Amino acid sequence: MPALSNRFEKLPEYVLARIPARKKALIEQGVDVIDLGAGDADLSPPARALDTLAEASRRPAMQRYGFGLGLPAYREACAAFMRKRFGFGFDPYTEVVPLIGSKEGISHLAFAYMEEGAVGIIPEPGYNSYQGGTLLSGGEAYRYALRPRTDFLVDLDEIPADVLKRARLLYLNYPNNPTAAVAPRDYLERVVRRCRELDILLVYDNAYSELAFDGYVPPSIFEIDGARDVAIEFHSLSKTFNMTGWRLGWACAKPEIAGALAKVKSFVDTGQFMAVQAAGVAALESYEAFVPGNVAIFRERRDAAVQAFREAGFTCETPKATMYLWIPLPEGVPSALFADRLMEEEGVVVLPGSGFGAGGEGFFRISFITSPERIAEAARRAGRVLASLESRV
Ligand SMILES: Cc1ncc(COP(=O)(O)O)c(C=O)c1O
Repeated sequence: MPALSNRFEKLPEYVLARIPARKKALIEQGVDVIDLGAGDADLSPPARALDTLAEASRRPAMQRYGFGLGLPAYREACAAFMRKRFGFGFDPYTEVVPLIGSKEGISHLAFAYMEEGAVGIIPEPGYNSYQGGTLLSGGEAYRYALRPRTDFLVDLDEIPADVLKRARLLYLNYPNNPTAAVAPRDYLERVVRRCRELDILLVYDNAYSELAFDGYVPPSIFEIDGARDVAIEFHSLSKTFNMTGWRLGWACAKPEIAGALAKVKSFVDTGQFMAVQAAGVAALESYEAFVPGNVAIFRERRDAAVQAFREAGFTCETPKATMYLWIPLPEGVPSALFADRLMEEEGVVVLPGSGFGAGGEGFFRISFITSPERIAEAARRAGRVLASLESRV
């Protein structure tokens, strides 16, 4: 066997890698497993998307390669969403890049900008495609720990000057997975200004832009003056329309940046199945009929989760957005030990903060991906494990 590359060897284990096999084994033993792990809800996509997929999948024209262009109607629908939701125009052909899920686009972007000596600034805990892209493309990862101290925001002024000088990409994600933090506008203004000064491309991951509660409306980075010069924004149908498995998203940026991503992709993929893109158009067009009701379901689950985990002895904030609670553990309780014991002794899957990188230690994440009743049951079981660990600390 040939040696594995250094860049491959630098990849840490994926936080979700071992869970499916363990979960399957527990279910086979008859354990009543409650899975609050992945951000992958048990809800259906819009009916129009399902009907369109069924119909489009039979059309001969849809069976062929989509290539980078893909289905023009999908590009037009993405541009229409940006215009309607945020109020500004993107050219569907030069400023929109259709993606096979936003994860692949986020990872592949780095191949256009990274090389030896170049740095990607990566919030930790954070979504794994930031470091995946940076490390696989031969760049260097500078990990910034997201902690309550900075309201889970990346403070560029805390990053050493020599790192900033070599930085080409800054990954930001608000509303944030896994911390559920949101970014105030003045923070985003500061970041855009610093990225312009430092010549850093701001990779703004807006996967949770539509999953927000209590009147909070997440912004696009392009609402910030000057962002068009320095930012690319990633969107996903996964969470907004319960379409995680469909693999559909898009990126928006000025033509030079969008074109760089599109060029990388032309060497690694040939586009999403065009029937899926047609269904994506149907989903985007059902926004008004579908999204508010869907968000209400997540809000009900959020409220149940906050109440139940508090009653079980945990402290947690009520998040304004996302499908996550990021729950602190008592000093001295390692998150991996807590998550392991919760799964093995009580059959509840949560993600340990340390699985999102060292910056996540001291927390665990739950997702509101099942009913309020099951979430409440999971919280009671988690409370039992917490009590037994606390009695040892
Ligand atoms: C922060 C964040 N960005 C991006 C994604 C990827 O979404 P997609 O399904 O579009 O690849 C996820 C999925 O969990 C996420 O949490």
